[in-house]
Amino acid sequence: MRSIQMVDLQGQYARLASEIDAAMKQVLQRADFIQGGAVRALESALSERYEVKHVIGCANGTDALQLAFMALDLPAGSEVITPAFSYAALTEVLLLLGLKPVFVEVDPDTFLMDLSSVEAAITPKTKAIAPVHLYGQMASMEPLLALAKKHNLYVVEDAAQAIGAQYCTPGEHGFAGTMGHIGTTSFFPSKNLGCFGDGGAIFTNDDELAIRLRSLANHGQTVKYQHDLVGMNSRLDTLQAAVLLVKLTHLSDFEKRRRAVAHRYDEGLAGLNGIEVPKRTMDSSHVFHQYTLKCQDQLLRDSLKNHLFEHQIPSMIYYPIPLHWQTAYKQVVNLPVSEDLCGRVLSLPICPELTNEQQDYIINNIRNFIQKTQ
Ligand SMILES: Cc1ncc(COP(=O)(O)O)c(C=O)c1O
Repeated sequence: MRSIQMVDLQGQYARLASEIDAAMKQVLQRADFIQGGAVRALESALSERYEVKHVIGCANGTDALQLAFMALDLPAGSEVITPAFSYAALTEVLLLLGLKPVFVEVDPDTFLMDLSSVEAAITPKTKAIAPVHLYGQMASMEPLLALAKKHNLYVVEDAAQAIGAQYCTPGEHGFAGTMGHIGTTSFFPSKNLGCFGDGGAIFTNDDELAIRLRSLANHGQTVKYQHDLVGMNSRLDTLQAAVLLVKLTHLSDFEKRRRAVAHRYDEGLAGLNGIEVPKRTMDSSHVFHQYTLKCQDQLLRDSLKNHLFEHQIPSMIYYPIPLHWQTAYKQVVNLPVSEDLCGRVLSLPICPELTNEQQDYIINNIRNFIQKTQ
């Protein structure tokens, strides 16, 4: 059996090598490395696929968030509501821009931002809400957009982990990253749509924001050597765009395969004492960027992780420390759900290349471990 990876990037490249090599070779021959044809082609393909007016490629998902908040140009000290149980990128960007992250809770079952916690956190200084579509499913966008409208707030969606997820309730529908004022995503290699290095993109339906975002990502210029805004150098490389264009044609298959893997885990791990398989939100599809178990406590989680490691099975803790407890972003707030989840979650290998044999080996090891601890 091939060794198990969280995400088998070598296996994926081996499968797609002839297509990807040809696409990269074309860029090398054209030498249009910066803002070349593949970048525009990718932006158009994403715009059509996800039914959003503007897509702007940029250097990575963190820059995408930074550019989003630069484009909104909020007054210094403005408050932005965001979940404490999440990746650090958004918090880091807010602090760099002189904005204040206001951390709120997530739902203990879906791990998605909790709406009542958001509502309670709104103050006169609040200017934006920034939901994170964690692990591959979407935060509750319909009530969140209504709340934002009522209080005149911007909504910036972090869709780094959920590209392709679809929100679908009788009141609202749309793809991850396209429902708020601005959405962002990451093409980090292990993401559902990943390139061969760093990459990211920004989505918006707002024409004026799109012009600002594109200019900010290119040193604040709209005309060469004319700098109207203080911007950044944050462009998506043409080589990365060429890789992404190839992978985009396979993304629906990748998603199907990830769902099938998730379903097999659900069946194989059902009814085991002490671990819960991931709950699905009713509001959106799940693209399973992660398949994350919730263990009964930290002791069980950590010993399960060790047991898997001893059997050459990788697993990851996304995330071990809530953002308000991080040294760099410390805030004295009480967020018991987020704090508790950091001690209990464990993500298992999931990717389109995971074979049934590898997955059975993982499932059997988890079953054996749980049965031994009873
Ligand atoms: C939720 C979330 N936001 C933002 C990012 C940042 O993306 P990047 O690594 O491309 O800067 C990531 C990447 O892991 C992420 O998971």
